[in-house]
Amino acid sequence: MSVEPLWSENLRKTYAVKGMPPVEALAGVSMNVHPGERVALLGRNGAGKTTFLRIASTLLRPTSGQIRVFGHDVSEHPERARPYIAVVPQEGKPFFHLPPREMIYTYLRARGLSRETSQSRTEEAIERMGLAEFADRLCITLSGGQRQRTMVATVIATQAPLLFLDEPTIGMDPFARREVWASLRDLTAKGSTILLTTHYLDEAEALSHRLYIVERGQVIVSGTSDDLKRSVGGTLKVSLPQGASEVESFRSFGEVVADGESLTIIVHPERLGELMELAVRRRLTATVGPVTLEEAFLRVVGRKIDED
Ligand SMILES: Nc1ncnc2c1ncn2[C@@H]1O[C@H](COP(=O)(O)OP(=O)(O)O)[C@@H](O)[C@H]1O
Ligand SMILES: [Mg+2]
Repeated sequence: MSVEPLWSENLRKTYAVKGMPPVEALAGVSMNVHPGERVALLGRNGAGKTTFLRIASTLLRPTSGQIRVFGHDVSEHPERARPYIAVVPQEGKPFFHLPPREMIYTYLRARGLSRETSQSRTEEAIERMGLAEFADRLCITLSGGQRQRTMVATVIATQAPLLFLDEPTIGMDPFARREVWASLRDLTAKGSTILLTTHYLDEAEALSHRLYIVERGQVIVSGTSDDLKRSVGGTLKVSLPQGASEVESFRSFGEVVADGESLTIIVHPERLGELMELAVRRRLTATVGPVTLEEAFLRVVGRKIDED
């Protein structure tokens, strides 16, 4: 039996919709998340990310396939899996008629933590996530970003062995996002394991050890963000603002994209020197930068969509 925090094989989910054709949201997803890892699920809207997280967190039953949390079959024994997990659902809302301080404390108590631990973790979460100025106001009076911070703070405070976070930083300002990242890093350093979805590719890159790209209910790519960049032909991007007329000379270096006068080449670091020499010989100005995860994502998903 697997003792991975999360393990799934050929997981499928088809939603029945009254009077409409069924929707195949997951078409056989296999993945695993190792102890202490932070893994990101990426994919376009409707790819199946939330469906996967809802099944993994026992809120929804799969149509077929297997999924286990710390070795416990999630659909057969949800009650065994539940103590291990804590979830920030997509568009989750805090209890409107509780203030954040009470909400966090009550949630920790409900999970069976002692008064003392709940109290100290609540204060720690308020401090850490910058909730102090609104910690005693009813959640209904808070802004969207403040509510989201409250939700995330509550779940982080559980220090559960396995956390699922569905678009946790949506609507947050850049400072709050960084607090969340730091808190999630601390949690995994203490031994928790995290699976999150995000539409911010900088977030996935900054935060995750590995990522899975899901498209139409299937995993199309998995690996580190560097793996993903390599799969599009390199981790560096060279821009030649006047290079379009020389497109043929640069083709052998990797993927080239001409746009107006300018030329962009995706290249492996080993070939950078050679490329730069050629640029100098042709009297072209060149700037070198990293390929972003966003660029790699757009290329990989775009390519897969074209293949269909
Ligand atoms: N309750 C439901 N009934 C029918 N279809 C659903 C339901 N929930 C999600 N879907 C469909 O399943 C697919 C996957 O949705 P979802 O898992 O929410 O994707 P994501 O989180 O990646 O945006 C979409 O086509 C969506 O419309
Ligand atoms: Mg979703």
